[in-house]
Amino acid sequence: MMVENSIKDIALAESGHKKIDWAAESMDILNQIKKDYSEQKPLKNKKIAICLHLEAKTAYMAIVLKQLGARVAICGSNPLSTQDDVAAALVEKGVEVHSWYGASQTEYHQNLEKVLKIKPDLIIDDGGDLVQLLHSADFIDIKKNVIGGAEETTTGINRLKALAREEKLEFPMMAVNDAFCKYLFDNRYGTGQSVWDGIIRTTNLVIAGKTVVVAGYGWCGKGVALRAKGLGARVIICEIDPVKACEAWMDGFQVMPMEEAAVKGDFFITVTGCKDVINKKHFLKMKDGAVLANAGHFDVEINKIDLKNISLSEKIVRQNIKQFQLENGRDLYLLAEGRLVNLAAADGHPVEIMDMSFSLQVLSLIYLIENPGMENRVHPVPEIIDKKVAFLKLEALGISIDELTEEQQQYLNKWNF
Ligand code: NAI
Repeated sequence: MMVENSIKDIALAESGHKKIDWAAESMDILNQIKKDYSEQKPLKNKKIAICLHLEAKTAYMAIVLKQLGARVAICGSNPLSTQDDVAAALVEKGVEVHSWYGASQTEYHQNLEKVLKIKPDLIIDDGGDLVQLLHSADFIDIKKNVIGGAEETTTGINRLKALAREEKLEFPMMAVNDAFCKYLFDNRYGTGQSVWDGIIRTTNLVIAGKTVVVAGYGWCGKGVALRAKGLGARVIICEIDPVKACEAWMDGFQVMPMEEAAVKGDFFITVTGCKDVINKKHFLKMKDGAVLANAGHFDVEINKIDLKNISLSEKIVRQNIKQFQLENGRDLYLLAEGRLVNLAAADGHPVEIMDMSFSLQVLSLIYLIENPGMENRVHPVPEIIDKKVAFLKLEALGISIDELTEEQQQYLNKWNF
């Protein structure tokens, strides 16, 4: 069958193959799953539409899904996170790709539509854009074919839950983000490391001694703050949840509203899943030279319209750094257009972290096939899958752990001592 792909340039494939091969070497859990299911091919004759940040680890998962029998079509989940060499290599591996770095908003949406043209049985979504499209009037027939899917990130889960609350979700979705082996590692340690990778490689500035303001002390924010502290920064947390604010304080961070933090910060990082977290009233108070970055799913956390409106001029001063010259004479620097800095200006999470997240994805899809007729709601990833991923990780690390004895098991199940 002739497949039309939409990528930047197939000639870029060679470096893409190298990146994928490098990632594959350290994705031990996924490699084990591939081996375990290689004969059974549980995804045989299944069509899978994927919307994920298209870089090497994602590409390797798509290849594994294909090796387990599926036909796969993929698009990026952000206009700035696709790596064109990886996209080209993936096409050479026989995966249908509709994505390129720097797609306009319209092109980005057209690419989502193109992956759905394969009439998927299963989907993998990151942020909820595929699900939204499938629930629109134009995709009613295609939606009927969908057995279910899996969602990768917090923002996507929030959107799915909103859809389910209105009783409009029309197929079961597995909440991969909410599995222990996802958020404890990916959101916390993955975002913690890769956000700083993105900021450091983009700005080449020192972090030690600087004041870093992190908005949002959820799983991602905890990782970003922890690594900022490790790099020698003074860290301020801005929160709206009193419990998270207490937690940040006890973890040793200063806590204050953004209006107070605005005057103090050298770096500002938003990672809340909310909009307008930093806006005009904050920009006007910031120091000359302050650097702004976002790690939340959508580019709405730092209000770019406000920033434009209070600026006399704007220019790109280095790749992924835009300088805004404010009417008050100060300059602010926005990284990667306010899109996820770790993906738009770096390579995303470390390989071994995505190995865990993507193993959950693959096992969740197999679970959906093995358990037909699941309710149309957001399902937690079963504990057995979470534990399997953790055990495979320990096995890959060569670590063994203790087991409960029969008596210990009984003791833990008793109430009357
Ligand atoms: P979470 O729900 O654990 O944490 C979000 C925190 O932000 C909460 O503590 C909440 O109280 C706080 N918050 C909400 N609105 C706020 C506001 N206006 N001001 C200050 N704090 C506010 O979510 P998680 O998992 O940390 O994810 C956060 C965002 O990052 C989501 O958009 C998620 O999709 C995205 N994400 C990004 C990744 C990346 O690679 N950059 C990886 C994983 C998630």
